[in-house]
Amino acid sequence: MNALMRAYANAWSAAGAHNLAALANAVEAPEQQTAPENTVPAALRQDYLRAITSLSRFPDLQREMFRIGDRLAWMQGTMKMPDSFKGRFTYVELVGPCGMTASDDISFGLYLQQCDTIYPSHWHAAQEDYLVVSGTALWQIDSQDFVAQEPGTHIVHGSNQPHATTTLQEPLIALWFWQGDIRDSTYRVVGVDA
Ligand SMILES: [Fe+2]
Repeated sequence: MNALMRAYANAWSAAGAHNLAALANAVEAPEQQTAPENTVPAALRQDYLRAITSLSRFPDLQREMFRIGDRLAWMQGTMKMPDSFKGRFTYVELVGPCGMTASDDISFGLYLQQCDTIYPSHWHAAQEDYLVVSGTALWQIDSQDFVAQEPGTHIVHGSNQPHATTTLQEPLIALWFWQGDIRDSTYRVVGVDA
């Protein structure tokens, strides 16, 4: 797990994300057990394998994902999602309130979105950094035009700033990092009543 965490941190650093000061401490947290009973959901497994095969821009991270990535605690969370999006994404919270390593102050991990999938506009109180590591998808901030973002792109969403992500032919893997007010209860998505 620690080798994965180092590769994860190195990917952020290579992308010039220097505002993630808390990451270094979290990476040095005690070794955590991976959870073999938790795997990528079956419906997403093909997309997951495609995405990590295309992760070659970050070779250390790719190696660790092949080694232990499918034994991380992939989940779909408890937040309400539109029917069109349910079951088409999964994520790992490496560190956070529900994370493989506990923290009440920050939350970060990995995100997988199936190809040909619309993640509608949503927002939350936490400031959010994304680093695209596999798959070029269309990303939107506020009501601006969607922009194709390639692996290596660092994207920042301010507190409560709406954003959306649409995948086309390729599945997406992105690293995410939340700081500030990280309560899930502030999360809202278009198409779902609060
Ligand atoms: Fe977000």
